[in-house]
Amino acid sequence: MGVVVEMDNIRKEFPGVVACDNISLELRQGEIHAILGENGAGKSTLMSVLFGLYQPDSGSIRVRGREVHIANPNAANRLGIGMVHQHFKLVSCFTVTENIILGLEPTRGMFIDTKLAAEQIKQLSDRYGLKVDPHALIADISVGMQQRVEILKMLYRNADILIFDEPTAVLTPQEVHELTKIMANLTAEGKSIFLITHKLREIKAIAQRCTVIRRGQWVGTVAVADASEETLAAMMVGRAVSFGVKKAQTKPGEKVLEIENLHVRGRGGVARVKGISFSVKRGEILGLAGVDGNGQKELVETLVGLRRADEGRILINNKEAGGLSVRERIAAGLAFIPDDRHKYGLILDFSLEENMILKSYHKQRFATQGLLNFTAIRAYAQKVISDFDVRSGRGAGALARTLSGGNQQKAILGREIDADPDLLIAVQPTRGLDVGAIEYVHRRLVEQRDSGKAVLLVSLELDEIFALSDRIAVISNGELVGIVNTDETDENEIGLMMTGLRREAVR
Ligand SMILES: Nc1ncnc2c1ncn2[C@@H]1O[C@H](COP(=O)(O)OP(=O)(O)O)[C@@H](O)[C@H]1O
Ligand SMILES: [Mg+2]
Repeated sequence: MGVVVEMDNIRKEFPGVVACDNISLELRQGEIHAILGENGAGKSTLMSVLFGLYQPDSGSIRVRGREVHIANPNAANRLGIGMVHQHFKLVSCFTVTENIILGLEPTRGMFIDTKLAAEQIKQLSDRYGLKVDPHALIADISVGMQQRVEILKMLYRNADILIFDEPTAVLTPQEVHELTKIMANLTAEGKSIFLITHKLREIKAIAQRCTVIRRGQWVGTVAVADASEETLAAMMVGRAVSFGVKKAQTKPGEKVLEIENLHVRGRGGVARVKGISFSVKRGEILGLAGVDGNGQKELVETLVGLRRADEGRILINNKEAGGLSVRERIAAGLAFIPDDRHKYGLILDFSLEENMILKSYHKQRFATQGLLNFTAIRAYAQKVISDFDVRSGRGAGALARTLSGGNQQKAILGREIDADPDLLIAVQPTRGLDVGAIEYVHRRLVEQRDSGKAVLLVSLELDEIFALSDRIAVISNGELVGIVNTDETDENEIGLMMTGLRREAVR
């Protein structure tokens, strides 16, 4: 098997961080080569070097045996290299065809033959099983389809070295399955693929080889068939990892959160939550699953008091909470772990100890007659920091900004859990965290449930929903599709429900 890409000792530094520390790897013709690593390991940087987005500080690249200098993405295109980025780069008011030919239109007074282009795109789509309509508007097609447009964009430019950067992060399980088939079609036709991912199961399902990088360094390249998920995880993290969360049976108690027929409008007055009702009981974790952007954000904002409902009721511990302010809801027993910890979880330019009392600074133990009692605040912050293993290097006085993502999240978790809430709403609580921190956060959430709290978990990661939830509620297009017991369902069913199909239809 021929080698199509050789990256040799690639080094790329950013101010203060070595993103790629002399990494070498090669891509064989017709293979799917996974690049595995935790968040921040350097995967995207390495592939961006190959795509000409970054220039390496040192090292060399050979494409089909010839040493090349890839000055920019156009140069990469000319070498037959294409990349599908984590965030798509499509113009939503253009059609599929217009997006694909964007940048390739013939100049010098010639007309663009859009009709011909559309035909060629249709042929490519058929050949690889992409099922894309060349005339559809980007704004009208699903995220999964938009991704296929990005794939067609590469194919239309005759790329045969394809880079996918975390392509499944935005897909439902069914779409993931279809993407897997598409990738297999591509390699069957002789294309070669670099697949960036941090999902072990996907690697086992489709890749032939896997290169693991950790903190910018090459850890190893293995044949996937010979490596178990445990082995790959250990290579990725640098130590053995325990899979799954240990969870005892629960006996749910009374309802802590009840919502009835909730209707909420989002930006621009568009209906985003359309008549949702459910409850969360003491001693249970209710997981809310759904594809991003189906009303989760508006629902959560309404529950925590950042947004008002148009209609419907919210009850916390049997008391009307829909009209309460944020502070009153906190007093009623609500705690909140937001998905955007930088924007909503912490004030980055405040110290850790100041962040610890953001929701309680007005209480008597921290303030008397409007004056903050810094001795009490520091003692309290230090207790939370040590209870929740928050590592800052500079103790309670460190600026929140200087902590790693995992430690920032532990700090938020500490603040929210230490408030001893009845109801904990956790949104994407492990987003962007490394495996160690994920384990920790999961353990703490289960602990809360076991101690009789009601936990509402909102997550886009189905693995997380399944690992933690006692019941799973599925939201699609602002409606509650259904609620099922976790031990009576599987990813396939939840995935179908995420597309809006009710259980009776799924079964
Ligand atoms: N444009 C940039 N400027 C500064 N630092 C960057 C830039 N891009 C990435 N980094 C840093 O380089 C490291 C590797 O990032 P990245 O390649 O995006 O990791 P991955 O894709 O594996 O999550 C991280 O520490 C990240 O913060
Ligand atoms: Mg990345």
